[in-house]
Amino acid sequence: MKNIAILGFGVVGGGVADLITKNCAEVEALGGEQINIKYILDLRDFPDSPFAGKVVHDYSLIVNDPEVDVIIEVMGGSHPAYEFTVAALKAGKSVITSNKEVVANFGDEFLALAEEAGVCYRFEAAVGGGIPVLSPIISCVKQNKITEVRGILNGTTNYILTKMFSLGDSFEAALSDAQAKGYAERNPDADVLGTDACRKIAILTALVTGKLIPTDKIHTEGITGVRHEDVLMAESVGLKIKLLGRCLVKDEGIYAMVAPFMLPSDAPLAGVNGVFNAVEVAGEPINSVMFYGPGAGAGPTASAVVGDLMEILRSGRHYAVPEFTKGDIGVADFGGFRCRTYISMVGVCEKCVESAFGKIHVIGTEGEYAFITPEMSEAETDAAIEKLIGRGGELKSRIRLL
Ligand code: HSE
Repeated sequence: MKNIAILGFGVVGGGVADLITKNCAEVEALGGEQINIKYILDLRDFPDSPFAGKVVHDYSLIVNDPEVDVIIEVMGGSHPAYEFTVAALKAGKSVITSNKEVVANFGDEFLALAEEAGVCYRFEAAVGGGIPVLSPIISCVKQNKITEVRGILNGTTNYILTKMFSLGDSFEAALSDAQAKGYAERNPDADVLGTDACRKIAILTALVTGKLIPTDKIHTEGITGVRHEDVLMAESVGLKIKLLGRCLVKDEGIYAMVAPFMLPSDAPLAGVNGVFNAVEVAGEPINSVMFYGPGAGAGPTASAVVGDLMEILRSGRHYAVPEFTKGDIGVADFGGFRCRTYISMVGVCEKCVESAFGKIHVIGTEGEYAFITPEMSEAETDAAIEKLIGRGGELKSRIRLL
């Protein structure tokens, strides 16, 4: 019998408890042992829940109980998740989490502590919800020379952008709809400002490069600046707008970023709609693979968490353990990142735009002057925009092309 404790009885914690209980025969057959949910830690009581008798409010009961083998941390946030995880690993208990914030900030420390204690630290559910992506990257893809990992890592923003494209909604209307459907929080900042996707690309970058880049060193833009006019311009030239997390491994260093990108409508990531997520990994000799599925929600996230539990029970530490550190990070200067860019400005003319950018592709001239630049570095694009602003131009939009 293996005893587990669940920290946090919200949407994901409830989903984990339900999955272990409803599918107990399958879960036990796979894990090879009976599983007992011994404790559920939460600040609240749940008198009407079938798990009411397991709810405790004092973490020391759990961490000091020698019968508890595995702790599932699904509280979210950095604190006290950080302190609880450190205490659990030091007490010789394996830890599983879906909490991308704590992994992105402290994952290196947790892996080192787990190694020292001879226990496991797993976080498959932290990226892509129910999509098995982290384990396949480290066990099936890592032997490639990986050149890029990129993905649609946030379901809420993908839902909003999909609505802006398919129904012509404004950003505000699409956000209200996402809130009404329970995808976006009442305070949607972490999703719409790109913070959530930034944490996820930090984790993916760590897996493929071995470097855990601090999130404040990852260039992060959300979707609040994407306008309906940009959606129409993109559509007119066969492009779609998606919020992408990208990590490119180049000779000069690692470029890690989150930003809206315009991509061809027939690109695999362009077909990922609604709250779905997808992660594409490119490298040699594999070329490119894509992982696709539901990126959030109680059931899919619980599936990934319980998958980690099965792996711990079945294999102990005999599985591919991710290795990454915060040392010697090697982040390239974002000013050197090269791409084509969609730009929309007012108060400019074709001649002055071409004098700043060189040969452009004009896509709209009514009201705003919208064009696509040649491939340039970020620093060159910044300088060209500044030049036009200095001549009375006003920037309305800037979205990079994939
Ligand atoms: N807010 C996140 C999203 C939840 O919308 O993708 C899953 O991490």
